Amino acid sequence: MKISSKLSEEVGEVGEVGEIRIARSKRDVRSWYDSIRSRFPGSVIGFVPTMGALHKGHETLIEAASSRCDRVVVSIFVNPTQFGPGEDLDKYPRTFEADLEICKRHGVDLVFSPEPKELYQSGIEALTFVEPPRELVERLCGLSRPGHFRGVATVVAKLFNIVRPDKAFFGEKDFQQLQVVKRMVRDLDIPVEIVSVPTVRDRDGLALSSRNAYLSKEQREIAPRLQAGLVRIAELLRGQKRLAVSEAIDLVRADLSENGGFNIDYLEVCDCDTLEPLAEAPKDRKIVILIAAKLGTVRLIDNLVV
Ligand code: PAF
Repeated sequence: MKISSKLSEEVGEVGEVGEIRIARSKRDVRSWYDSIRSRFPGSVIGFVPTMGALHKGHETLIEAASSRCDRVVVSIFVNPTQFGPGEDLDKYPRTFEADLEICKRHGVDLVFSPEPKELYQSGIEALTFVEPPRELVERLCGLSRPGHFRGVATVVAKLFNIVRPDKAFFGEKDFQQLQVVKRMVRDLDIPVEIVSVPTVRDRDGLALSSRNAYLSKEQREIAPRLQAGLVRIAELLRGQKRLAVSEAIDLVRADLSENGGFNIDYLEVCDCDTLEPLAEAPKDRKIVILIAAKLGTVRLIDNLVV
């Protein structure tokens, strides 16, 4: 159990349990890590990588890490290599002070918040990238965001090497990202356990996301229809009616675009582990229904595992 935190900017000798540290450099993280390992051998380090703008979804990840680990590290880094040209890198919400308060409240031990040049000294053009397998990334979100998962895999691998956690916690909302990270850890033999944590939703079903802050009041009211659409597909596939996958998708796609004003990027039924698209919903295997759609300029994603 964690006790309440007190804030300390300096990183050097490790603090007592309950004291939060802020690391701005890789060196800071390493000295914190070395102190923990020497003073508390065998302690389990949990890691929650984030881009900040922390919300209830992140809090759930931190709580999951706290309940299973002795020490918790949160990184706050808006990673430029996972944003494409014209995407919202500059506009991405940055709320460091509020994020820190949340970390303190949850008893986080170390917040790693580097400047981009700390992680990308040689510049992005000269960088060695981690290239995830094409069949996992050249579809779904990867189709409209080329290079996105290469940027995610690269920064996550770097963060794993810097933080050296025993367990790392990822939300199921970013389902494709979760599969990419799991696959990278397996293929590159990275010694970290990936723990997936169920999506946190508002009462009306909308999956929490930092980008929800961009929705107008009217869009916010419409947005939960995305999740309702996924539930409807699951019912059409697995309930009494047993429609074919394409029929169920067409029905829901038409409803969301005509009645909800969504501009649908993709709506697919896939195998849960490989993300291979399925034309039929097998009874004996877990499937995942994934959607990405824009409401105005705001891109929302969601999924449902059945
Ligand atoms: O999910 C996110 O917030 C980011 O993609 C991650 C995993 C922190 C990498 O930048």
